[in-house]
Parts: sequence; structure tokens; C-alpha cells
Amino acid sequence: MSKVFVNIGLSLDGYMAPEGMTMDNPGYKNWGAKWGALMAWLLNQQYFREKLNFGPGGETGPVNDMVRHTFERTGAHIMGKRMFDQGEVSWPEEAPFHTAVYVLTHEKRDPWVRPGGTTFYFINEGPERALALAREAAGSLDIRISGGADVIQQYLNLGVVDELEIALAPVLFGGGRRLFENLSEPGPQFRIDNVLDGSSATHLRYVRQ
Ligand SMILES: NC(=O)c1ccc[n+]([C@@H]2O[C@H](COP(=O)([O-])OP(=O)(O)OC[C@H]3O[C@@H](n4cnc5c(N)ncnc54)[C@H](OP(=O)(O)O)[C@@H]3O)[C@@H](O)[C@H]2O)c1
Repeated sequence: MSKVFVNIGLSLDGYMAPEGMTMDNPGYKNWGAKWGALMAWLLNQQYFREKLNFGPGGETGPVNDMVRHTFERTGAHIMGKRMFDQGEVSWPEEAPFHTAVYVLTHEKRDPWVRPGGTTFYFINEGPERALALAREAAGSLDIRISGGADVIQQYLNLGVVDELEIALAPVLFGGGRRLFENLSEPGPQFRIDNVLDGSSATHLRYVRQ
């Protein structure tokens, strides 16, 4: 059966995004440099560079293999409207998903079809409905809860996240979008499945007990 997984970058002090990260104010509290430091591990992987047309080169090895596996296993994505809003103005025309993407939002909007197999569907009926649609679209592949923090928290609270993959980057944000908050008690229980040392992050993999 399909797994539901999260795969994100996290600062050492627990933030998924630096404070004030909006496309209209890139200079705010140096958030661009912080975001770059958070994602450095990914931006330099050969597979990711190829997928986003960043040009040749890049690291190969176990982290690159992990990135490839993440892309190949994913049959549908779910994300929040704030993540989508930032991506809408910064992803290339061929958005880097190549699956159905379910965007949790209060906004009513028709599906947005991109070249390369990505279609964004705007879901107003909550996280369970988005997950049901994603399961249907994914078939035997897995469902990635892409982010941001708000949406991941909702799925953690529903108890449906099978795997939690965190690239813990050695950067301190001091503020921003915190991943682990707003969680209900008792929270989901995870066990350590794997730890991989990368050059710019430690890759932690947890599976649900
Ligand atoms: N570190 C990483 O790996 C990583 C990964 C992904 C994203 N990010 C970053 O995370 C940040 C965004 O995270 P976030 O926590 O601020 O926001 P988010 O989870 O991306 O989006 C939250 C928004 O989605 C909509 N929404 C969420 N749940 C809903 C529901 N049940 N029903 C209806 N609408 C719902 C609401 O917007 P509306 O009311 O406006 O519709 C809500 O304000 C961005 O800066 C992004 O770049 C980081």
C-alpha cells in the first residue's frame, strides 16, 4: 500500500522557513541567504540539478540516490497555499512535480495544468479529502506531504504520516515557520530508521511505530 511521507529541510533550531520569507521582500532579515543555507544540500545534487534544468554537474553518491528515490517513489503531492504561492512565481514553467498536486486552500480556483505532467488542484474540503484524492491519483506510488509547516502539522495530527524524512542543516534561523508546534497529544510515535551524513545536512529518517 502507498505510504504517506514528509521530506523537508529543517534548520538546527527547528524552522522550515526563515522569518519573513515572502517573494516581495527578499532582503528581509537576509531570508534568502538563510533559505539557501537550508537547502544547500539539495541544490547541489546532480539529480535535482538535472530535474530543474540547473545545468550539468553536481554531487553524486548516497544523498543524490536518496533524492532520486524521493522523486521516483512519489505519485501525488499535497501542499499548503503559502508554499504554492511562493512556488507559483518561482518554479520553472515545467513545475518540478510531474504528478497531481493537491493544494489545501480556502481559495476557489480551477485546476492549473503545467507542461510535464503537473496539475495543481485547489482543495477547499480539508486535509482528509486532499489525502483521499492523492491516494487515488498515486495508485501504487507514495504520497508526499510537501509542506509547509501548517499542512505537515495537520497530517501529523491526523496520524497518517508513515515516514518523516528531515534534512537537518547546520544553520540557525532564530525565528520563522516552526515545524513541530500545534501538535495534539498524544503525538505520533516514530522510531529511527536511518541516519545519513551529508556534506551540508544530516539526513534523518523516521518511520511510524
Ligand atoms: N524547509 C522545507 O523543506 C520546506 C518545504 C515546503 C515549504 N517550505 C516553506 O514553508 C513555508 C510555508 O509554510 P506555512 O506553514 O507558512 O504555510 P503552508 O502550510 O504552505 O500553507 C498554509 C496555508 O494553506 C491553506 N490551508 C492550510 N490548511 C488548510 C485547510 N485545512 N483548509 C483550507 N486551507 C488550508 C491556508 O491558506 P489560505 O487560507 O490562504 O487558502 C493556510 O494559510 C514557505 O516559506 C515554504 O517555502 C519549506
